[in-house]
Amino acid sequence: MRDATALPALDFKTISLADDGWSVRIIDQTRLPHEFDTVSLRGLDDAVRAIRDMLVRGAPLIGGTAAYGVALAVNEDPSDAMLERACEDLMETRPTAVNLRWALDDMRTTLLPLPESERRAAAYVRAAEIVREDEALCDGMGAHGLAVIQDLARTKPPGEPVNILTHCNAGALATCGLGTATAPIYRAHAAGVPVHVWVDETRPRNQGAALTTWELARAGVSHALIADNTGGHLMQHGMVDMCIVGTDRTTASGDVCNKIGTYLKALAAKDNDVPFYVALPSTTIDWTLKDGVAEVPIEQRAAEEVTDVTGLADDGSLKTVTVPPVGTPVANYAFDVTPGRLVTGLITERGISEASAAGLAGLFPERARQS
Ligand code: MRU
Repeated sequence: MRDATALPALDFKTISLADDGWSVRIIDQTRLPHEFDTVSLRGLDDAVRAIRDMLVRGAPLIGGTAAYGVALAVNEDPSDAMLERACEDLMETRPTAVNLRWALDDMRTTLLPLPESERRAAAYVRAAEIVREDEALCDGMGAHGLAVIQDLARTKPPGEPVNILTHCNAGALATCGLGTATAPIYRAHAAGVPVHVWVDETRPRNQGAALTTWELARAGVSHALIADNTGGHLMQHGMVDMCIVGTDRTTASGDVCNKIGTYLKALAAKDNDVPFYVALPSTTIDWTLKDGVAEVPIEQRAAEEVTDVTGLADDGSLKTVTVPPVGTPVANYAFDVTPGRLVTGLITERGISEASAAGLAGLFPERARQS
């Protein structure tokens, strides 16, 4: 086994300041995995479009992009009116990921008391800090989650991989660092613990098929793509040792809102005694909410995400085709809520807690007291 403290190196950055010192470079994730394009955000409207149209996605990266979106807005115009408009416009882009609200509240509280002449510099400093802090949060989740994978590895015959099922993309592409669910996986891989990842394709937008496979392949982690309906079968046959997923918003009581379909995987895991872990930075905890099913706003998105599929055509171009009869009525709920009772543990930057009010309060007493 190699050095357990080894940190894997990623060969891409999801968000960074461009060389001009003011515009912001992101990866256009709608083009992955077949094209790697970066895009320059040059103003508030670019940042709003990037989040709304999911060029960037994943709760922590949405937060980082929103922070830079405020910096871009203040760069255009440092007035109170612009600051308020930026926070409002960005807040409307994606209703479920709570990191968005967290980052906007932080930027607003940092900038509003400052004179207009100081806001531009302060906004870029704080946005860069938010991105760096997210990297550190990912490292923390990676370290704590690694211990869980190492424990499972000890129960396996020598050389046999720990089989981990994940849903959607809670990887490096969803964050500013190593990812949430993938951080422990990357750490295990770097430490020489054999791991194999079952990647749910994650309809309707296929973040598993397009993004998680792309980044796991780039990092050299063994994986196989599975249709969304496959996980239960694999669990019944002892082919999954653990599940690790991310979350877009977790309540103070430990209910986990994540990409649609997560709940069904948690039910299958419970029925088969497969440990079901959720990795999250504390910026994804909504301390104002208790009942996830009743209270988390669930984003509903365009029908085309369900009816249409985009992929690589024979001529090498990206093509979109429609599957059902044209005009078929559609319901497209982007997220669901897994009650805390189905979750084995919450892997956070401070350690692993029970998915309950007491568990989270134990790790984050200062936040729980305020809520
Ligand atoms: O709609 P997306 O792609 O922004 O949703 C992201 C997810 O739901 C991820 O699965 C993830 O768990 C949350 S972000 C780490």
